Amino acid sequence: MKDEEKSKEQILKELIDLRRTVVADGAGDQLKREHSTAEEKYYNLFQSANDAIFIQDLNGTIIDVNNKLLALFGYDRSEIMSVRMADLVNAAEESKYRTALESLVKDGATVFEILLRRKNGESFPAEVSASTFPVNGEKVVQGTVRNISERKRAEEEFRKYRKHLEAFVAQRTDQLEAANKELESFAYSVSHDLRAPLRAMEGFASALLEDYAEKLDETGRDYANRVVSAAQHMDILIQDLLAYSRLSRSALKPNAVSLDSVLGEVMHQLSSDIQKRDAQIRVERPLPEVMGDHATLVQVLSNLLSNAIKFVEPGVKPKVNIRAETLSNKVRLWVEDAGIGIPPEYHARIFRIFERLQGMESYPGTGVGLAIVKKGLERMGGIAGVDSVPGKGSKFWVELRAKGF
Ligand SMILES: Nc1ncnc2c1ncn2[C@@H]1O[C@H](COP(=O)(O)OP(=O)(O)OP(=O)(O)O)[C@@H](O)[C@H]1O
Ligand SMILES: [Mg+2]
Repeated sequence: MKDEEKSKEQILKELIDLRRTVVADGAGDQLKREHSTAEEKYYNLFQSANDAIFIQDLNGTIIDVNNKLLALFGYDRSEIMSVRMADLVNAAEESKYRTALESLVKDGATVFEILLRRKNGESFPAEVSASTFPVNGEKVVQGTVRNISERKRAEEEFRKYRKHLEAFVAQRTDQLEAANKELESFAYSVSHDLRAPLRAMEGFASALLEDYAEKLDETGRDYANRVVSAAQHMDILIQDLLAYSRLSRSALKPNAVSLDSVLGEVMHQLSSDIQKRDAQIRVERPLPEVMGDHATLVQVLSNLLSNAIKFVEPGVKPKVNIRAETLSNKVRLWVEDAGIGIPPEYHARIFRIFERLQGMESYPGTGVGLAIVKKGLERMGGIAGVDSVPGKGSKFWVELRAKGF
């Protein structure tokens, strides 16, 4: 390493001397020199390098350049000797060049991008990497110039493409959001308006049963009863749909909510159901606080718990375990049951609105509950999911940011 440096230094010194002689003598374009083998090697390397290389002093006077650099700038060797480094820089970038020189003197090495100028006035972007060497107590600069037009073009193309893509995505997102809003308000007004005629149907069918019961035979009364119960079922459907679309329309601002207090409220809501089914519910308290919305969390948990006590084999007492785990900044709340379970191919589908896997007779419901769970979680910036083995039970979970995150 030391030897190499020494010979480089020697060569540079010789080059500088020669350059000075040439300039002083006005001796023309050939650098006459006697090379030792090492110098010859170094000089050949310098000339045949793939990069354009220059050697200059700190005043910007060119000491030597290789053929690649001549080709890049369009000068021949005799011309380049009367050119100063600053002449190779695009006029608009002169101050950038000076700043680069200053940091080069300070740090001993620098890499920068700059617009350079060819002999014919044409500009091109380049990456210059330069370092200083001491020669005879004087600092000289050796550097390489790389034409980066292609890279810049590719970068520009990429930038344009990205901008185009971003604009496209933004436009599509706006369209989607608008379509979603429209659909949601459509669902809301339709379900709202559907309730009036439905009430009329139920009301008149009930009136038939009350006021004309004697005039109807058994089949007639059965038909009227079916109209009443179908209307009642449809009313529940519409109410669930309304709850769902109301949820999708309201913006939620998450704040710290205690899962213990949410669960307390849910247990109170479902208490008669829990008693009727003699359900055993174990809660691993204390449950942590999460970032969410209290009312939405009550809806979410009430749906999960009512499912957990509903979907058991007939005659089986529901057993539910509720626990939470904190994973760094997230909280995952688990509602685990020992019920009928769900085949894996349905794990994603059941979260869609109106998706149900059982008949109404065995397990009543509208299929909106889990859609509310999913939507509610989305609105609070969380996610929901399920692990389940048919016949063994289901473990539903919801994940939210922990309090303070
Ligand atoms: N804990 C569970 N165990 C087994 N299956 C379940 C469980 N929870 C949900 N499912 C299945 O997913 C379906 C959708 O659940 P979801 O809560 O959305 O509707 P639902 O309970 O049938 O009706 P709703 O909740 O609207 O009254 C259920 O019909 C059932 O097939
Ligand atoms: Mg349900």
